Amino acid sequence: MSPHPWPTLLWALVLLLGLQPRGLEARAHRPKDPEFQEAYFEQLLDHFNFERFGNKTFLQRFLMTEKFWNRGEGPIFFYTGNEGDVWSFANNSGFILELAEQQGALVVFAEHRYYGKSLPFGERSTWRGYTELLTVEQALADFAGLLRALRQELEAPDAPAIAFGGSYGGMLSAYLRIKYPHLVAGALAASAPVVSAAGLGDPYQFFQDVSADFQGQSPECARAVQDAFRQIRDLFQQGAPHVVSQEFGTCQPLSGPKDLTQLFGFARNAFTVLAMMDYPYATDFVGHLPAHPVQVGCSRLLSESSRIAGLRALADLTAASNIIFSNGDLDPWARGGIQSNLSASVLAIAIHGGAHHLDLRGSHPDDPASVVEARRLEAALIGKWVEAARSTGLQG
Ligand SMILES: *[C@@H]1O[C@H](CO)[C@@H](O)[C@H](O)[C@H]1NC(C)=O
Ligand SMILES: *[C@@H]1O[C@H](CO)[C@@H](O)[C@H](O)[C@H]1NC(C)=O
Ligand SMILES: *[C@@H]1O[C@H](CO)[C@@H](O)[C@H](O)[C@H]1NC(C)=O
Repeated sequence: MSPHPWPTLLWALVLLLGLQPRGLEARAHRPKDPEFQEAYFEQLLDHFNFERFGNKTFLQRFLMTEKFWNRGEGPIFFYTGNEGDVWSFANNSGFILELAEQQGALVVFAEHRYYGKSLPFGERSTWRGYTELLTVEQALADFAGLLRALRQELEAPDAPAIAFGGSYGGMLSAYLRIKYPHLVAGALAASAPVVSAAGLGDPYQFFQDVSADFQGQSPECARAVQDAFRQIRDLFQQGAPHVVSQEFGTCQPLSGPKDLTQLFGFARNAFTVLAMMDYPYATDFVGHLPAHPVQVGCSRLLSESSRIAGLRALADLTAASNIIFSNGDLDPWARGGIQSNLSASVLAIAIHGGAHHLDLRGSHPDDPASVVEARRLEAALIGKWVEAARSTGLQG
């Protein structure tokens, strides 16, 4: 599968989602000492454009332990770090270490760029003007680059790799499998809110959550308008104008370039009128308009455009393979995750009585039976993927 041109808006949302505070992670459950070594990898600043930063690099931190590794046999378990110090994830994902012990795996926890000590521009990294390289695509390319380099360095070119992650990190692990299927044989995405990040479910609810950052931001809105026009044009070109008819609720079905032009004109006029009538109170001048119609229109548009982008993201998921989405039913994020099996190997595991990525934590005497069972199933599936990758020489 080739990399997908993910809509910019979707990635922006994904990043915003990743910024929510984490509560449970603070209460550490320490696994037995895994003897992590802390190391740094010289990582490209910009993976996609060599004009601005050329071959400039920064140091990406990662943790690694060979304690359980059965060299030449065992897989690589690769945690795709999320928003925070990589140690906090390593200290709170005991299950990965337990599984590594069972399956003889090398374990790597990679830090996400712009977090912890992996700062592309040092202490200036979070300043205005220095955050342009904080994107999901760059983070995924970092992980891919680090994994490639480690395989080479450790002389384990054929070691199957499994991506792990929780929450936003879970989304990254699933996306790593989707975008780099030749590098990772499968992914365990625990409590990954991929559906709400894609704007599915209830998009208005979702945008209320992020609205403080989002609404009224004219650059985003402008980009979303462009995205929306492009998406409509693409749908026409892909021979799916009925999707547009359905989305807009047109009286008659749309078809052909004429209708497209007409629709674009109609939409353009609507934006023009909103801008002209942008009063701070409701008006009935050229139609019934609410107060601040541009702001209202923008927020509506942002919800809708992400919903269309989301539909595409989900189509990508059904085409994927070897991904487990696990969710605890106590987790407020669960509704935003994948809760049904999408194919024979894109599976949903529900953990009754489980909170936010409980399954990634180390075993505990108070664990509900459901999480014990979920871990058993995850271990079996991962073992199968690793075995298949070993025997075919392909990651899946
Ligand atoms: C980066 O590019 C410069 C100039 O082209 C070159 O001298 C240098 O060796 C390159 N560095 C790396 C790490 O590739
Ligand atoms: C992680 O555990 C190590 C080893 O016990 C400890 O030194 C470190 O402070 C912990 N870090 C975090 C962020 O939890
Ligand atoms: C998905 O399939 C797995 C494995 O067959 C099964 O254990 C699980 O219950 C299924 N999930 C759902 C939500 O039906």
